[in-house]
Amino acid sequence: MTNIEILVKDLVKKHGRQRNSLMAVLQGVVQQEKYLSEDAMIVIARELDLSAADVFGTASFYTFLDTVPRGKNIIRVCKTISCHMAGKDEVIKTLENHLKAKVGETTHDGKFTLLTANCLGWCHKGPVMLINNEVFPELTPEKAIDIVEEFSKH
Ligand code: FES
Repeated sequence: MTNIEILVKDLVKKHGRQRNSLMAVLQGVVQQEKYLSEDAMIVIARELDLSAADVFGTASFYTFLDTVPRGKNIIRVCKTISCHMAGKDEVIKTLENHLKAKVGETTHDGKFTLLTANCLGWCHKGPVMLINNEVFPELTPEKAIDIVEEFSKH
């Protein structure tokens, strides 16, 4: 059995072998593997008795379920209204320049992928970004660079 088969089987055992476990299983794979490969989606379809098209469709609908390989650290800057008004554009522009990668791209050293996300639930403290699972509120462009620099040391 491949690693991905073992992982999917474990997740299916944990969440149950029914259709409404699909999201939980997809998220579990992304958490572990950082993205959803085609192989993983095929295994998930088999284990949950769904068509591969069903699984691909769900995965591409939810844009936070990455289906291409990503960097070691995933930066997600909130693009929703409160963060927009608080200056997320400046933060994004500064990060793009600093990382030499545009939104949707991964840095050459593979350390960071820069993405945007919908409201992260910290609207009163915008602009906000998430790096992996950590939230960074009240950003300024300078603060965002300092934080990213910290991450690039590990
Ligand atoms: S609008 Fe950005 S966290 Fe809600």
